[in-house]
Amino acid sequence: MKKNLFMIAAAGLAGMLTSHAAVQTTDFDDIKLYTLQNKAGTTVKITNYGATVTSILTADRNGTMADIALGYNDVSGYMNAVDKPYFGSIVGRYGNRIAKGQFSIDGKKYKLATTNGANHLHGGVIGFDKVVWDAKVAGSHSVRFHYLAKDGEEGYPGNLDINVTYTLTDANELKIDYLATTDQKTPVNLTNHTYFNLKGEGEGTILGHELMIHAKGYTPVDSGLIPTGKIEPVTGTPFDFTTAKAIGRDIGKKDQQLEYGLGYDHNWVLDKGGKTGQLTLAATLYEPTSGRFMEVFTREPGLQFYCGNFLAGNLKGKSGKTYLHRGGLCLETQHYPDSPNQPAFPSTILAPGAQYQTTTVYKFSTKK
Ligand code: BGC
Repeated sequence: MKKNLFMIAAAGLAGMLTSHAAVQTTDFDDIKLYTLQNKAGTTVKITNYGATVTSILTADRNGTMADIALGYNDVSGYMNAVDKPYFGSIVGRYGNRIAKGQFSIDGKKYKLATTNGANHLHGGVIGFDKVVWDAKVAGSHSVRFHYLAKDGEEGYPGNLDINVTYTLTDANELKIDYLATTDQKTPVNLTNHTYFNLKGEGEGTILGHELMIHAKGYTPVDSGLIPTGKIEPVTGTPFDFTTAKAIGRDIGKKDQQLEYGLGYDHNWVLDKGGKTGQLTLAATLYEPTSGRFMEVFTREPGLQFYCGNFLAGNLKGKSGKTYLHRGGLCLETQHYPDSPNQPAFPSTILAPGAQYQTTTVYKFSTKK
């Protein structure tokens, strides 16, 4: 594996693309970087290390391109990320937290690593963001990543066979299709952990971004960010994003939930309007100075909105710019945190013979 070559590929690939809707592969032994480009010139780069989105180049309202995804310019950045931001990666086997790293299935107890205080976060010590996936170009617009998580890996039961397909459409959608099967009952909750800054990575904070979340309720947490089990209405709280508002508007309000999250770091219960399991609008994000607008659609019942509270302002990103505290935000489509221990939440247990199948779409456009 020639890690440092990844940087050269990341810098050089866009210029090499001549055809639209092209998929370009650059092969550095087992680490690869794929570039998807559509007719509009939107360009998405994805590496098979962690099935990670490393870059998303989109136009602003004047047609000027910028990279709106935070990340590193070298695969070693992703490998050695001491502060563990999980930039752009697929996280799993269980995205988000499992209380005390414990759960039971059919009376049998399982113990996972506690990687976030007393709790388990994002799949453990070597989660899906830290493994090399098999990769395959799948048509003119898609790349498919495959990983077989072994029975017992990170303490989870069952061989879990996972396919994640990224597609960039000419309608400016980055579509992520997830498919998984298992040979033993196991919890599964996969998501993508891209940090967006619609002004451009390294261009200040996301506090001026206007966010709408299609959710009347959210799952409040304890001080370790484990849901209490209740679903509370957002009305009258800083968590009300039912109408678009600037993220910075209420973030400083005195509120115990904001104190626990050090800002927004919570799961919203999406209004599915009777369309459980179907692709529905979860959120919109607008950045007024650039005019960039993003819509998020998902089949999942929940959305973790995390506004980069743990970015400490000490990290330089891929273009050398400093990533400020709250310099990027994640909209992680998912089942609710700690579902394996919360019988009232929609189940995350996948059984042999069943298929885990879900889709998330990030759609890019601009507004005047
Ligand atoms: C979690 C945050 C965590 C971040 C990076 C988010 O999904 O909700 O609490 O700090 O990932 O690990």
